[in-house]
Amino acid sequence: MNKLLIKNARLINEGVIRDADVLISGDRIAKIDTVISAQNGVDVIDARDCYLMPGMIDDQVHFREPGLTHKGDFATESAAAAAGGITSFMDMPNVNPQTTTRQALADKYRIAEQRCSANYGFYLGATNRNIDEIRGLQLDEACGIKVFMGASTGDMLVDDADVLDSIFESAPLMIVTHCEHSPTIWENEAHAREQFGDDVPMSEHPRIRSANACLTSSSFAVELAQRHDALLHILHLTTAIEMGLFSPAHRSEKRITAEVCVHHLWFDESRYDELGTRIKCNPAIKTGDDRAALVKAVNEGRIDIIATDHAPHTLAEKNDSYFKAPAGLPLVQHAVLTLFDLAKRGEISYEMLVERCCHAPADIFGVKERGYAREGWYADLVIVDPSSPYRVESSNVLSKCAWSPFEGHQFSASIDTTIINGQVVYRDGALTGAVVGRRLEFGRLR
Ligand code: DOR
Repeated sequence: MNKLLIKNARLINEGVIRDADVLISGDRIAKIDTVISAQNGVDVIDARDCYLMPGMIDDQVHFREPGLTHKGDFATESAAAAAGGITSFMDMPNVNPQTTTRQALADKYRIAEQRCSANYGFYLGATNRNIDEIRGLQLDEACGIKVFMGASTGDMLVDDADVLDSIFESAPLMIVTHCEHSPTIWENEAHAREQFGDDVPMSEHPRIRSANACLTSSSFAVELAQRHDALLHILHLTTAIEMGLFSPAHRSEKRITAEVCVHHLWFDESRYDELGTRIKCNPAIKTGDDRAALVKAVNEGRIDIIATDHAPHTLAEKNDSYFKAPAGLPLVQHAVLTLFDLAKRGEISYEMLVERCCHAPADIFGVKERGYAREGWYADLVIVDPSSPYRVESSNVLSKCAWSPFEGHQFSASIDTTIINGQVVYRDGALTGAVVGRRLEFGRLR
């Protein structure tokens, strides 16, 4: 059995930072202690002056398989994720064919087998017509049920009020929602067309995909979940006004949880003129005040999880006019580094970063034996060097689309090593070629 010893790390885990050595045996963490001495036959990584943390569990990605593989695929995007310190991901159903049946889910798991650098789980997508598929879902078939309560990439809007009621009444697993009220958006789009014709400036995006559209939809989702006592997780929240919907209580006391994505914590609307459609996403990046409110909500506990909503499109697709350019940006490779920059600025603590990216997704989705650095649990670990800056160039972007909204930005930290299931997957700026991702196991029913 392979053995690996990480020495002299500053371990960020379960709310504290402490000096620790970590011994890995096979795919598990065998021991965590202040000092563990190196034995013969054990590989040693010296992590002096570096942080060690559990790998990020990203509960929202679009890796584009099956059917949209010109944008990304399981191999390329999971490699980019591993290089960015993400050791597990949960993939969305807006692919082709859409993942809206249990058979499509099984097919997708088969496609992913042996091709993922990081561990994986998949959502079943809800439609206006697949309530029987939803009701029949078994615990280990999906990480949850994705409901587009607002239209976005992939034409999966669920807008039949009776169907929504049935989904919230009978979903056997966690419901996760994209919340934007489409009729409000369509009305705002019509106004924008009257004013600008087809040439709508990108800076109008947060007024078209407005705060009001978000609040109308997220309030409705909360109301449905309360009415039926459903387990609800609202994805990628973007506005100050929605934060009042969520409790600051610990996640163990809540059935309704909330998420923010890294780009909404980093960018605000002042960047549209410079970055244009590169930062076009749904829901839109909004005002500086909204961004500040999201950071505050992360610290208060109203926001439980930080994820990416990694959604690659080709540059050719993105380099188009406002209405034609698709929404979404590639983020998995730079999410942890973005959060380390926020931590360095003092906006969040390192302990909070790990809480929201690793511990909370593990608990909320019931991911078995991952998300914490614990003896006996899987060895999914990341070493981050806080004093080795990393500059993003198109040439070092690993996502298939080969561009990043962070191009030209120098992060203050870099990912030194990523270990998944006990194997070194990324080290010294390069992937090692180990493709060791496994299917995630889940333990949380409604
Ligand atoms: O910006 C987005 N892009 N938001 C979504 O909800 C979907 C995603 C995509 O798949 O491109």
